[in-house]
Amino acid sequence: MATYRYEIAGSVLSGRVEIGGAKNAVLPILAATLLNKGTSYIYNVPDLSDIDVAIEILKAFNCNVSHENHSVVVDASDAMYTNIPQELTSKCRATLAFLGASLGRFGEADIAFPGGCVLGPRPVNMHIEALHALGLEVNEDNTIHVQGKLLDSVLQLSYPSVGVTENILIMAAASHHTIIIKNAAREPEIVNLCKYLTETGANIDGAGTSTIVIKGRDMIECQAHITVIPDRIEAATYITAGVMTGRDVEVAKCNPRDIRRLLTILRKMGCEINVSEDTVHVIKGLLDKQLNTPLYIVAKPYPAFPTDMQPLIMPLLCLIASEYSPSILADTVFPYRYMLAEELSKMGAKIHKRTGAAVITGLERIGTCRFTASRNLISHDLRGGAALILASLATEPGTVSNVYDEGYIKRGYENISEKFSQIGGNVSVKLLK
Ligand code: EPZ
Repeated sequence: MATYRYEIAGSVLSGRVEIGGAKNAVLPILAATLLNKGTSYIYNVPDLSDIDVAIEILKAFNCNVSHENHSVVVDASDAMYTNIPQELTSKCRATLAFLGASLGRFGEADIAFPGGCVLGPRPVNMHIEALHALGLEVNEDNTIHVQGKLLDSVLQLSYPSVGVTENILIMAAASHHTIIIKNAAREPEIVNLCKYLTETGANIDGAGTSTIVIKGRDMIECQAHITVIPDRIEAATYITAGVMTGRDVEVAKCNPRDIRRLLTILRKMGCEINVSEDTVHVIKGLLDKQLNTPLYIVAKPYPAFPTDMQPLIMPLLCLIASEYSPSILADTVFPYRYMLAEELSKMGAKIHKRTGAAVITGLERIGTCRFTASRNLISHDLRGGAALILASLATEPGTVSNVYDEGYIKRGYENISEKFSQIGGNVSVKLLK
């Protein structure tokens, strides 16, 4: 893994930043292109290392893939069956979607268990349960091997898992059976995937709701076109930065409807935020007014407050909470997703971790809304790394922090240092090894 050092000085942000395509929408769509014996055209694709991994897997299946100017073209006409190697599945959990894609295309799949990560255990039991429920033959040793043909089924998911919902949709799209998914995930990325699958001829009702009915078709060979939705987590990152240490920050090319819960929380804090069709404009945040501390924020499946925004709002809560007005930040999706707390405590934050929640009581230094810079911050995961950049921007102007990162940030953020620099953020990155 490469090691990067981000150098960030306390800054005041202002200006306009544009949001890219959603990583978590592109990844399942790329897997699903394996189903199409024709050519798939995917637009608004960000340049991210996770995308590169998915493209490597498509090439391992003998697909012809080009990726330039934020577009990917996949010709899967000559795709051939292969096992999906550990060195690729260990890099990115989303490669699990290739299990459904390989099964849909070839009637068989063999994928190494995806790596766990610092968010906590990343089991695949619900994926396996779904495969059994669909009448498929599943063998697990050091890989997951699946074969067979889907049957008409009604699946009641025990939890609205994003990855499980995606896997079922992808394998069902290439079968002429009808699959009903109950308690399906409702994330916008699921709707984007369903739009692509519909492009290839699948018949889908209920995308974005808890009950999805999909009827696929055996032979898929077409020219399919799909535009990836804006990345709601990237948008949340720059909006929260604007609230923490900005004056008049405009986040453009995003979809405000996908981040309603965050915008509601920020407005309840007292932030002045204008919203148009594809732009969120942070007029006044912490630099211009006293903000109210939310007593309790809990991350749950969409449309609730998303777990991926939990690390991003933690530094903001540190700046506005106090012993007398604490904030509790809970996460029901990833109850162990609090590695960030130790790093923020190096910057003066007071955070008491519990399983599934953090009690935030402000900063060691009273009477300030700025963190103390630190030269030895460690990024433990993708969103935690971005959160440390936000906290470092919200230090006294001119003081400098360093974030050491093993490539997590580049997995989910295209040009984060350039984008922050465009709006007054003093951020630079250096490859150390
Ligand atoms: C997707 O992960 C996203 N990743 C995650 O974003 C996101 O945090 C998560 O959904 C929740 O929204 C991608 O889309 C690539 P889940 P996924 O299956 O599909 C448990 C990021 O930063 N579970 O909805 O893995 C699981 O452990 C990443 O971009 C099982 O127990 O999420 C977790 O507690 C981080 N068994 C919960 O369900 C299973 O078989 C939610 O997982 C599957 C999941």
